[in-house]
This record gives sequence, C-alpha cells and structure tokens, in this order.
Amino acid sequence: MNTTFKTMDPSKKYRPYPQIDLPNRQWPDNVLVKPPIWLSTDLRDGNQSLIDPMDIDKKLKMFDLLVQLGYKEIEVGFPSASQIEFDFVRRLIEENRIPEDVSIQALTQARTDLINRTVESLVGAKNAIVHVYNATSPLFREVVYNKSKAETIEIAVNGIKDIKAALAALPADVRAQTNWRLEYSPETFSMTELDFAKEICEAVMQEWGATPENQVILNLPTTIEVATPNVFADQVEWMHRHLDNRESAIISVHPHNDRGTGTACAELAILAGADRVEGCLFGNGERTGNVCLVNLAVNLWSQGIHPGVDYSNINEVIRIAEECTQLPVGARHPWAGELVFTAFSGSHQDAIKKGLTRQKDREQSANGETIMWEVPYLPIDPADLGRSYEAVIRVNAQSGKGGMAYLLERDYGLTLPRILQVDVARAVQVLADETGKELNSEQIHQVFVDEFVERATPIQYIDHTISHHTGVETLRAQIEIKGESTVIEGTGNGPLSAFVHALNQKLGTKFSVAHYSEHDIHSDQTGEDAQAACYVQVAHADFAPAYGVGIHENIVTASLLAVVSAMNRSGVLIDR
Ligand code: KIV
Ligand code: ZN
Repeated sequence: MNTTFKTMDPSKKYRPYPQIDLPNRQWPDNVLVKPPIWLSTDLRDGNQSLIDPMDIDKKLKMFDLLVQLGYKEIEVGFPSASQIEFDFVRRLIEENRIPEDVSIQALTQARTDLINRTVESLVGAKNAIVHVYNATSPLFREVVYNKSKAETIEIAVNGIKDIKAALAALPADVRAQTNWRLEYSPETFSMTELDFAKEICEAVMQEWGATPENQVILNLPTTIEVATPNVFADQVEWMHRHLDNRESAIISVHPHNDRGTGTACAELAILAGADRVEGCLFGNGERTGNVCLVNLAVNLWSQGIHPGVDYSNINEVIRIAEECTQLPVGARHPWAGELVFTAFSGSHQDAIKKGLTRQKDREQSANGETIMWEVPYLPIDPADLGRSYEAVIRVNAQSGKGGMAYLLERDYGLTLPRILQVDVARAVQVLADETGKELNSEQIHQVFVDEFVERATPIQYIDHTISHHTGVETLRAQIEIKGESTVIEGTGNGPLSAFVHALNQKLGTKFSVAHYSEHDIHSDQTGEDAQAACYVQVAHADFAPAYGVGIHENIVTASLLAVVSAMNRSGVLIDR
C-alpha cells in the first residue's frame, strides 16, 4: 500500500505559492456592485474537456441555451482544431443563429496557419472575437517550449501580426461586415512573473493598436489554480494598477478550479479590478473545471445585484446542460443541486417552517410589494430559480416534528397542535426507522390517518342527534362497542361535553377534554369538498393522555370522531 500521505513530509515535495508584493492593496475594501461582462466558454473549454465532445446538435442546443440565458459573449469553439468545430461556427453564422447583440469568440494558438483558419471561420459574423494565447510561466517556457522570455513575447506579438494580416487579406467589404475584436490570454498567468505578464500584455496591446475605443481583452487565467484566492486577487490588482494604457484593455479572468476556489478567485478578481469573467455552466471545463457561471450569477442575485443573466428556470438549464455534456450536476452543487434547498434535520425544518410562515404573513401585509427575504437556512427564495417548495422539507429518520407537520399542512391542509405534532412525529419515526429511507408526504399522511384518525375500535361512532333545553344540550349517539350496537345519551353545555358525558356513563369512566382545536380544510388542498379537522386530547387519571383527530364535513361530527379516536388510543376497554 502507498503510505506517502501518512509518512511523507509534503514540504519536501511541494512549496507554497509566494505572496505578492502589493502594498496598500485595495481589493479587500471593495464591494461588488455590478456584474462583470460574462463569457461562456462551454462550447470551447467546456467541450474540450468532455469524455464525448458535443456533436453539432448538442452544440446548437447549448448555444441556444446560452443565448436564452442572456450571455452576450460566447466562445464557440477552437475552429482550427477540427472540421466539426469549424463547421459548427460556420453553421451559426450562415444560418443566422447569432443574435445581433451577441459576440462569438474563437480560440487559436499563436500560429499562422491556425490563425488564418480561425479568421476564415468567423467571416460574416456581426461581432467576432479572435482569442489567441500562448503560455507564459517559467515552468511552461522552460519545460514545455524551451523558449526565453523574449521568444515568448515574440510568439504572442507574431500572433497578433498574423491576425492583422489575415484580416487585411479579406476583401474590404467582407472585413467590414464584422466588428473584429482581440482577446489575448497569457496562458498560465497565475504562475507567471507579474512584470513579465505585464510586458507581454503591453506588447500585444501595442501591436494591436489598442485604444479606449478599440480595447483588447486581456484574459488572465488561473490555468492551474496554485494559490489561495487572495494571491490571485493581488495578481489581478497588480495588473490593474500597473498596466500601461489600462483604459485600452478589458481585464478578464478565466479561473479554473483545481483548489476548489474558482468562485472565490473570480469574485475577488472583480473586487481587484477585473471587468470580465470566463466560465462554464455548472463548472464544466478542463480537469477540475472552470468557474461555474451559475454559481457566480446567483451569488450576485443573493446580494441584491442583478447578474444580467436569467436563471429563473434552473431545472431546465440543468436538464439541457446534462444532456449536452453527459455530466451530472451534483446534488450539492451551489444553488442548483437537487438537495441544496432541502432540509432533513428537524431543527432546520422547524426554523424554515417558521420562516416561511412569517415571510408569507409579511408578504400579505405588504399588499403586493416585494419584501426582503428573511428565511432561516434559505439564503434565497428557491422560487426565484423556478424551484418549488416541494423539496425544501423532506423527512427521513433524522427529521423531527417540524418537517412532517409542514408537509401535512402544505399538502393536506392539516394544522396540527404542537403536542400532537410530537405524537405524530413519534409514529412517523417508527416507520422511518423501519424503512431507513426518506418518507414522502403521502406516507406520512397515511401514518397520521391510521394512527390518529381512523381509530374505530373498540368504540365506533355511527350517528348522533342533538336537542337543546334551556342552555343544556342533550346528545344521543349510536355507537358500536366491540362490534355491538348501542345508544348512549349525555348532557353538557355543548355537543362535545354531552358526548363525553354519555361515553363516561356508558363505560364507567371519568374522561375529560384536555385540549380541543379545530379548523377548516380548504378544498384546494384536499381536492374534496370543504371539511373540518378537529383535534381532541382526552385526559383520565387511569390512562395516558391521548390525542384523536376527526375529519368530517360536519364540524360536530368531526369533534365526536376525534373523541372516539382519542379514547380508543388511550387504551380504554383494552383490558376490561
Ligand atoms: O485555462 C486557460 O489558460 C485557457 C486559455 C486557453 C485561456 O483555457
Ligand atoms: Zn481554461
């Protein structure tokens, strides 16, 4: 067995990335106030990283989704890398699939033949970005390319010259159909000496003739995440503060997620001066993925900042993304996973239930005005993303009374008294422990009905009549006791007390009503005609207090059914 992790000192194999010398850094005091310019690279970095890259139909589906979500800059591929990529870009252009306000971007290495092919693929698009890159960090310069700094700059600058030449070679009217822009990425920026990154970016800007009206997109990737996000923020702020002609550049970032901090890197980079972020839906992308565009957008939303993209139907976005990439979105994926708005634990459920009720009450008194969202454990309203409240509370063996009470109320219109909730939770727990599985609201309702509502032995209610006499009610009821029909009669100040009196007389007991409550059940909740639910707790010196529930369209009948159910549950007549 490999014992490296147990026995080796990792400092002998790995070193921390050095801190950046950035006196008076500004980003820690900055706040997010607006969304960045977004670029989706789902069809490029995202596609390059799939086990089975998307076919044209899937690419079209993904492109349409990105457009529908509101992305205005979309990297559509690496057209010089394969015929499929080239054909896809041509199809988008020739079939007029690209909205007027959307720019398509194509990636190329800084090589003449590849650049020519890339420009050829983009001809006829209204807005096109040629994205050229070369690796700049010492490790890549020395180990992969064996190039000096000067040679590395030459590769980048020659790439820009090639793009200019390829554009110049187009017939003037063809060239003029397109608003041509340039993006340059010093690949492996996060591992590159900052003064060298600045030098190469400035050389590119100069060669392109960047101006505030003709800005170059300088994309600073964490091709490989090698440091904590504060280090990346320092690197971006350093570039933002030191770059000559800063106003002639759009600073973009392209965080990967090797350390699981892609989102933090992107957010801190914006604080540090970045204008633009490249990423993929649900964090798809090379190795551990690109920063997740959904995560970033909904993070902004949760801070009250409109991200400028639309995630109001997150389930549909997941469905299409999963279909196109053949990769599942994890159940705990921020904002999107199946379980991220779900509480199983009792204390969470209780807090959410109270929070949702209070939120509803506040909404009602606000007369249609939007009010601030304040619900424990739910940082945003799942409904904003098109999620229903169905999944918010789910019950398993870890849950308490709050969750099952919430489900009975939401799905069956039953508002259980607090003490009864404890009893019902106990009964539900038995089933949860037995099955070891999640229980749905139908199963919980069945336990509730079997245990508390339909308890018709040994006593069964059949019918009743009531008569009034000078403030006293007399109730005659037909019941069965252990299958034998009998008529009982009692008096009281209401039907309930008269019925209890009648039963006590018949059974020779001294039951009293310790708790009574009732409410209407609305027909839209049950799908039946309006009914009433009555909750009765009976007390007796010789028996444990017991709850029973009666449900009937007649409120008096419901209360008598509840008494019978409560007495049956108390154990009366069981040992007699
Ligand atoms: O991660 C990276 O550095 C890239 C570049 C090509 C921008 O994908
Ligand atoms: Zn990348």
